[in-house]
Amino acid sequence: MKHSKLLATAFGVAVAGAISFGAQAEEMAAFEIVDGTIPQSLTGTPGDPANGRKIAINRKKGNCLACHVMPIPEEQFHGETGPALDGVGGYSTEAELRMRMVDAKVINEDTMMPSFYKTGQHMVLKSFEGKTILSAQEVEDVVAYLLTLK
Ligand code: HEC
Repeated sequence: MKHSKLLATAFGVAVAGAISFGAQAEEMAAFEIVDGTIPQSLTGTPGDPANGRKIAINRKKGNCLACHVMPIPEEQFHGETGPALDGVGGYSTEAELRMRMVDAKVINEDTMMPSFYKTGQHMVLKSFEGKTILSAQEVEDVVAYLLTLK
């Protein structure tokens, strides 16, 4: 009993430590691009679609609404630089969506869409130097959310 409580405490500390460490300060996850897609999860932890939706709205994170119409009626402004994303989960695979999120420029080098999991981009804020816009798990969360848009 005592032993398992100790284990639980140690686990709790590890989890809290991972969170306070800061999403963008983590080491880059290794990933493999296969035919212009990323089949494997960046983290091995299933994405959380509800959190992905929040990231899509958040102007300091995904800010997807700046360029895409999405089925998020509580937000008024939706840009139209990119295509509407309603239905995108129906005609895209998870591997395709993950590639688009990690680095849309692999799919189209002239795209306006930011590469959300890439360092060393042009015109980034100083505070983003050497960091990615989203963490690996945030990418997984957004992919999980996009897959719900059928
Ligand atoms: C600065 C504008 C911009 C932002 C911000 C942006 N995108 Fe895009 N996105 C585009 C454009 C433009 C395209 C069209 C394809 C291209 O340019 O290659 C696109 C294409 C896509 C596609 C493919 C759509 C299809 O029909 O296959 C998906 C999925 C997507 N974006 C998701 C997102 C998500 C999710 C976010 C937020 C995390 C986001 N985008 C943020 C501009 C943007």
